[in-house]
Amino acid sequence: MSILIKGGKIIDPASQCEDFLDVFISGEKIKKLQKNLKMKEAEIIIDAREKIIIPGLVDMHTHVRQPGREDEETIKSASLAAARGGFTTICCMPNTTPPIDNPALVRFIHEEVRRNSLIEILPVGAITQNLEGKKISEMGRLKKAGVIGFSDDGKWVVNSQIMRRALEYAKMLDIPLISHCEDPSLSEGGVMNEGYWSCVLGFPGIPGEAEEIAVARDLALCRLTGCRLHIAHVSTRESVQLIREAKKRNLKISCEVTPHHLALSDEEVKTFDTNTKVNPPLRSHEDIEALKQGLKENVIDVIATDHAPHSPEEKELEYPNAPFGVIGLETALSVVLKTLVQSGVLTLKEAIAKLSLNPARILGIDRGSIQEGKTANLVIVNLKKNWEVREEDFLSLSKNSPFIGWTLPGKVEYTICRGKIVYKGE
Ligand code: DOR
Ligand code: ZN
Repeated sequence: MSILIKGGKIIDPASQCEDFLDVFISGEKIKKLQKNLKMKEAEIIIDAREKIIIPGLVDMHTHVRQPGREDEETIKSASLAAARGGFTTICCMPNTTPPIDNPALVRFIHEEVRRNSLIEILPVGAITQNLEGKKISEMGRLKKAGVIGFSDDGKWVVNSQIMRRALEYAKMLDIPLISHCEDPSLSEGGVMNEGYWSCVLGFPGIPGEAEEIAVARDLALCRLTGCRLHIAHVSTRESVQLIREAKKRNLKISCEVTPHHLALSDEEVKTFDTNTKVNPPLRSHEDIEALKQGLKENVIDVIATDHAPHSPEEKELEYPNAPFGVIGLETALSVVLKTLVQSGVLTLKEAIAKLSLNPARILGIDRGSIQEGKTANLVIVNLKKNWEVREEDFLSLSKNSPFIGWTLPGKVEYTICRGKIVYKGE
């Protein structure tokens, strides 16, 4: 199949390109990128005038729920949702049932992806067996089977000696370790951020310090081992400050923030909508300002969804008993455009880098860039079009989004993965 995309504005953070160029795709690759391309052999011609063309987005943090909770999400449904949101590569977290802590399960994921996914899905392996934090998983065999990174996401590896060993192995294997920073002895029982709103609402709180204690220890172990460490879903001002200082000292550290932690504060919990219940919890306005500042200064490298599908039966439980998590693949780009680009926190190119090139670099994959010879993963977006987030439009099997009813800017019109159109908007 060959595709010619005409008249669009390319925004490519890797080459710093922001120019009107035509794109010719043949097979899986971008073959030509220049002005006024005339390719008679093109089978499909897409008119992208007035649109932008950006690299296929890369999500470092997706919960796909297969195996175990196929009622909530599958590799197939996650790939449809990802394609609708402009993602062409996502990393699936290992907190499935059973967890991805052995090579057979990694092979299972690869096989399911090959059979059922429209986009690229790369498995993250567990740091510890059964995510119990007690014994390290067979990290070498997991890497051989094809994991892209390691994480016990959902849980912090509490034992420092085990975390140290895991970091040493990860360094040897040259693969990033992703830490969910939360000291469970401080957060246990909490359902929202500890502060003014938890007092008003009478809910048990999770203090920011539960995250910051974990971040501080992990930074110390990063220094001790020299391993690359990526901190998932940073949510507080103090965490940003700790990471800022660590970066000044040249630690091999990177981190991410989610769109929901940028767009929503703990005040939203007053609606009692369980789609405001996430882990880490939504924080204060001050924290949100610090996260935005962190993004500006490149203290925060990546925006990742933490797409966490949950069934309606579970999300409809009373607030304290509902599970933590919201879906994010189909709204991430537009929420970022609204909360960061329209408000002038980041330029469009900077925001795109945090959603594509930066995560690709941390993962060590050749993605997140539109250049001749590269794999043709790209997205055509109409920035002028606003759209309403409607529950019935989600392609994800789960509907637990806090953004239902919002009108958001930026409509994905085409998502192209490995040279194939995997999503076409109406
Ligand atoms: O909100 C969350 N949901 N945070 C996590 O760390 C885990 C995730 C899940 O798996 O539901
Ligand atoms: Zn997590």
